[in-house]
Amino acid sequence: MNILLLGSGGREHALAWKIAASPLLTRLWCAPGNAGIAREAECVALDIADHAAVIDFCQRERIEFVVVGPDAPIAAGIVDDLNAAGFKAFGPSKAAGRLESSKNFTKELCRANNIPTAAYDHFTDAEAARTYIRKQGAPIVVKADGLAAGKGVVVAVTEQEALAAVDMMFGGGFGASGAEVVIEEFMEGEEASFFALCDGEDALPLATAQDHKRAFDGDKGPNTGGMGAYSPAPVMTDTMCARVMDEMIRPTLRAMAAMGSPYKGVLFAGVMVTRDGPKLVEYNARFGDPECQVLMLRMMSDIVPALLASADGQLKNFSLRWFDEAALTVIMATKGYPGSYGKGSAIEGLDEAAKVEGVEIFHAGTALKGGRLVANGGRVLNVCALGKTVTEAQQRAYAAVDRIHWGDGFCRRDIGWQAVAREKAEG
Ligand code: AMP
Ligand code: GLY
Repeated sequence: MNILLLGSGGREHALAWKIAASPLLTRLWCAPGNAGIAREAECVALDIADHAAVIDFCQRERIEFVVVGPDAPIAAGIVDDLNAAGFKAFGPSKAAGRLESSKNFTKELCRANNIPTAAYDHFTDAEAARTYIRKQGAPIVVKADGLAAGKGVVVAVTEQEALAAVDMMFGGGFGASGAEVVIEEFMEGEEASFFALCDGEDALPLATAQDHKRAFDGDKGPNTGGMGAYSPAPVMTDTMCARVMDEMIRPTLRAMAAMGSPYKGVLFAGVMVTRDGPKLVEYNARFGDPECQVLMLRMMSDIVPALLASADGQLKNFSLRWFDEAALTVIMATKGYPGSYGKGSAIEGLDEAAKVEGVEIFHAGTALKGGRLVANGGRVLNVCALGKTVTEAQQRAYAAVDRIHWGDGFCRRDIGWQAVAREKAEG
């Protein structure tokens, strides 16, 4: 089978690595890819926002299946356009993708279907938003409606911070996506990432994961796309997973099907495990990055039949096998991320790092320049490891990190701390 993967991050490198291991594969392309993905796939310099160009490529290379990695092409309707041109694709339609692209759509759906989530209100007017904040008090959460690369959320500890966030968003701080603002109740608890493969009707839960969204150790500093992740997430017990399936995923699939927008693809629920049970933080219409990296390391089964079953509506009797080992990934980012950062600094030592037992390195923002590997983005490398425990996976990942020479890079040193603390307590 000829497969085209869309995207260029660490998530797509992990997907490419897993798809490349499938016996069903004939040829794998990735658009646009990165320097690491080039080891698993043939990278093509396509502009994936140009759907006609993507379709043209699929026709020319006889692509039989397109796997969409990131959120932007989903929100732009790439799956609809590919399907209309006769190509099978993994991922939701534009209408189903509203679960990620519009927070207000999801909040309304939760309200109508009793899906547990934070109380909220929706505003198109700054003054009304300010009045609401003064009435509710802090802590409170202010979100730009629409895609803001995972960064359109301000968890305000004080009323002042919340008011400043409203001014920033209505002042165009997040571009067009800030023209509408959702303000919601602060949920207290431990957060986890829950993934279910969906085929429009049925859903298959995947392994659990947790990520670290804040830039610095101790979960401090600004929110990022994710600075590290691990799997499994101890907070997601079997009971908790069953509750998420029953209270969130299945009612969501039923509601989407009933409104004529059946959800296919991977549904990613950000879940807050509160004293009152699981509550939905948000949905994403794609794999998490970096959660996907640890899921791919732990997945024993061939991924290609699973992705095809999702697209074909054949998940009902499908199952996947997973390795028992834990997986952990540390993100190495360019200094300055998630703010502004430079590009082009040289990275060395990856071959030595990859020799550490259990280690796999996925690339995110990398490029080759004159034969040398250089940083080409904010999040640059995903240093991943398997281990018998999260503690062992963490030790291996940092042993590999320490072999990488990259003066302009930084990483957190405490990825997995919740699980490591639990493992220590359990002896
Ligand atoms: P989101 O982009 O909606 O996932 O929000 C980014 C992060 O902000 C989440 O992963 C949470 O850590 C935090 N967050 C968002 N909404 C809430 C909430 N209502 N209560 C507490 N934390 C939240
Ligand atoms: N790691 C969180 C996300 O992909 O949105």
